[in-house]
Amino acid sequence: MMVPSETFDAIVLGAGGAGLMCAAVAGQRGVRVALLDHADAPGKKILISGGGRCNFTNIHAAADRYLSANPHFAKSALGRYRADDFLELVKAYGIAWHEKTLGQLFCDGSARQIVAMLLEECAKGTVTLRLGAVLGEIRHSDGLFHVEQGGATLAARALVIATGGPSIPKLGATGFAYDLARRFGLKVVEPRPALVPLTLGGEEILFRSLSGVAAEVIAGAGKARFREAALFTHKGLSGPAILQISSYWRHGEQIGIDFLPDAEPDWLVQAKRERPRTTLKASLARRLPERLAETLAERLGIGGELGNLADRLLRDGERRLGDWRFSPNGTEGFAKAEVTVGGIATDGLSSRSMEAKSVPGLYAIGEAVDVTGWLGGYNFQWAWASGWAAGQALAS
Ligand code: FDA
Repeated sequence: MMVPSETFDAIVLGAGGAGLMCAAVAGQRGVRVALLDHADAPGKKILISGGGRCNFTNIHAAADRYLSANPHFAKSALGRYRADDFLELVKAYGIAWHEKTLGQLFCDGSARQIVAMLLEECAKGTVTLRLGAVLGEIRHSDGLFHVEQGGATLAARALVIATGGPSIPKLGATGFAYDLARRFGLKVVEPRPALVPLTLGGEEILFRSLSGVAAEVIAGAGKARFREAALFTHKGLSGPAILQISSYWRHGEQIGIDFLPDAEPDWLVQAKRERPRTTLKASLARRLPERLAETLAERLGIGGELGNLADRLLRDGERRLGDWRFSPNGTEGFAKAEVTVGGIATDGLSSRSMEAKSVPGLYAIGEAVDVTGWLGGYNFQWAWASGWAAGQALAS
């Protein structure tokens, strides 16, 4: 039998964005929190996020910008802890910030400021942070959670799973949260890499020769549509529009790319009337990077002067350019995925407190849970909001 050598009110596993927020909120309300992480530094994903400037929230954060088997689950936490609340904290610490685009807020300086802020928030409360903490056996008995760590056993009435998802394993990311949740009888929605580049194979391999070429497009999969940049890579497709759509894409499905989102209907037939001696390639090159224009014209097999081509052929080309079908053969996987779609099933959790319905005292927050945001600060906002909700509940 494990004998507790240290007793806390709550043990939070994982000192990423969600765990730090949860520990700080609970700790500042007098909850004695042990915050454990196997990494040698807290918040490593915060540090590398947003190119080192951390896109820490998005002013448009709302549940409809998140993927989850239950699209309503995130409403409560996101509604109670908003982008503005996190921004107030950022301002209170004098951290300079700016809005980049599409409501995305970044630090002017460094993501280190966000980690330092969260650590200071923890230090203001009763939080004991332990890094390099390799976790051993975890048990639940007599209303207490027992966690073996470093030859000792920690015990607490509450245990918070905040160990994230398996994206970017080289930063210490693991599927630990899912294993632990399953051991406590919680279900896990199949995890998949998300916000991840897509790979092309077969005859689409020829698009790899466009590596480095980017264009503003509308990318679509199912009902989802994103208007942002797409980038051809030596493996396939990337760029914000593709990362966004990758979260919705499933193996075997196609994605559609509108290469000309601003083109007026019948633009190609119009071009034929106005400049009959021009070619499709030249017409496209007025709107797209030249190499892309050339490849698309070749793939469409539409050569020669527009004046010699039938309107029907041009309309068909226009239609294909507006919904170019790609059949990705995969993604670049968890090694390159910014986040994980899927995770601990929300139907087993309270949307208000993040507590497991069937295991009182057990909580799950952040990326470990089946709530995944769009690109652009949405995932951190979920980490803060779910961490805040659980932190509040721990103190009540
Ligand atoms: P997170 O993964 O941050 O933290 C989990 C912690 O648990 C880690 O510290 C880990 O070491 C620890 N852990 C894991 N397994 C463990 C174990 N077995 N034992 C002990 N500890 C364990 N989002 C956004 O909104 N804006 C952005 O700019 C970016 N940019 C970005 C860039 C890149 C390259 C990536 C990979 C991701 C982003 N994201 C992002 C996504 C964002 O980083 C992510 O959604 C949050 O960090 C999730 O926070 P969590 O606290 O849930 O998990």
